[in-house]
Amino acid sequence: MLKRRQLFQFAGVAAVAAAGGAAWMYYGSPRSEALAGGPFRHYPFDPVAADNFQQKLFIPVGSGPFGVLDVAGPLKIRATAASFPLLPGRESPFLLYQTEQAGKAYQNPILRIESGARFTASLDNALQEPTIIHWHGLHTPAAMDGHPASTIGPGGRYAYDFKVNNRGGTYWYHTHAHELTAEQAYHGLASFFLVDDDDQRRVSKALDLQLGVTDLPLVIQDKQFDAQGKLLYKPGAHEAMMGWLGDIMLANLTPNAVQAVTPRTYRLRLLNGSNARIYRLAFVRGNKALDFTVIGTDGGLIERPETVSEAFLAPGERLDVLFDAGQARPGEDIFLRSLTFDAMENEGPAAGPGGMPGMSGMGMGQMMASMSSSRLPLGLEFNILKLSVTAGERVVAKLPATLSQVKPIPTEGATQRKIELSMGQMRFLINGYTFRMDEIAFDVKRGAVEIWSISNPALGMPHPMHIHGFSFQVLERIGSPPQIAAMARFGQGRTVSDLGWKDTVLVWPGETVRVAIDFAHDYPGDQTYVFHCHNLEHEDGGMMINFRVKA
Ligand code: C2O
Ligand code: CU
Ligand code: CU
Repeated sequence: MLKRRQLFQFAGVAAVAAAGGAAWMYYGSPRSEALAGGPFRHYPFDPVAADNFQQKLFIPVGSGPFGVLDVAGPLKIRATAASFPLLPGRESPFLLYQTEQAGKAYQNPILRIESGARFTASLDNALQEPTIIHWHGLHTPAAMDGHPASTIGPGGRYAYDFKVNNRGGTYWYHTHAHELTAEQAYHGLASFFLVDDDDQRRVSKALDLQLGVTDLPLVIQDKQFDAQGKLLYKPGAHEAMMGWLGDIMLANLTPNAVQAVTPRTYRLRLLNGSNARIYRLAFVRGNKALDFTVIGTDGGLIERPETVSEAFLAPGERLDVLFDAGQARPGEDIFLRSLTFDAMENEGPAAGPGGMPGMSGMGMGQMMASMSSSRLPLGLEFNILKLSVTAGERVVAKLPATLSQVKPIPTEGATQRKIELSMGQMRFLINGYTFRMDEIAFDVKRGAVEIWSISNPALGMPHPMHIHGFSFQVLERIGSPPQIAAMARFGQGRTVSDLGWKDTVLVWPGETVRVAIDFAHDYPGDQTYVFHCHNLEHEDGGMMINFRVKA
């Protein structure tokens, strides 16, 4: 059996041959250099090459694209097709959420609201296709959640009105259109939903942080572009199954971004907004991974600051980190980087050469070409963002000893439930199900605490599993691969990314991850939510189930 990684080594050769082709003329791909044995990934905006990082990081301000919008009343949000200069000087078709408040216009606003406040918004679908907004991580009634069944057609309107029940934290919102989530999110329909509370303010005050200056929301995404510099999204059969990978890294929609920092502590609210790419994050100076401190995960602050030198971040997950740029001297560069890891795309016998359905009769070259169009295989090392340290007063932050309280969900007498991930017929399944709108995989009792044991077979691939409507706590990782076991410093096999309140957890091949969920809510009647893989191609491909919370 040939693993995908091995295939990539061949595919690399094919990519060299293709690099000088018309598709990459705009980038002036140096064919001769490539053919002469240079790095096959050499292309402008190649994130492996450190000296490519020259575009100023886009930092959200008071209005405009990604503007920070302090929600002060009902919003009218329009999902529209527009264009956006993602690559310098190149407009790309892009999808945007547009809204206004107090005479200011916003596109894909970073919504900020106080915990406990009421959030009221209407969504107008000005696209040519169906859409709906889902509030990722928020505890809302099912009708407010953006379940795929709530998808509205072109010209349609959906009214949202709910109380923000969640504690302070870095949440987000994105399209959840039935079977169109991957394509629409990739083309822009996503942004942050920041919830504020006293704990959050205490941290900001203690560290003298200011949103948009030293407290930076940072969405990380990988994209592909065509010869005209337009976003490219064309998954073939293999990519539809494995997930679409980009080969140009965007931080806040800036390719190869650089940000000047002074020798002080910054808060980075990292969101993996990629369709399928997993990152093994580190802050690197030269060859040395520097310390950083995790203060929050998906559902807000963790209990204590935890200092580490690396962490995985899967699609849908957030990691709130403090990074002390004073670890480098003025004039030095630090890279937020994704380190090498084993992508563990073992796939299983059905996916190997000769065994892949629909691929028999194809030549080797054809098969390679159909595998992945990304020049950046999963697990390869590359840069995401350059921090260039400038002169400035050295400020050494004093971290608070405690950040917040995370009360453990009482699990005594909890219902145990097995969630088994598997693969069949080129699709990934949950408990044998592929998503059907009207099919409920199981019922849970309102108010019940359940422990879900989510198991991923050894022959498979990593899946970031995400629940709607509720948050969970990760109890334990069992059977973790060595690269996870090596990071398991937090008891019961858990890594730093597993701490606190979570709504998405990465489950590696061979692993069982046990999570506790409290299904208490105070909405009237039965509530139906989805549980799905946040690899968006997997989600659209049906790696999703309905579960119903019975009143
Ligand atoms: Cu962020 Cu159902 O997803
Ligand atoms: Cu969600
Ligand atoms: Cu998956």
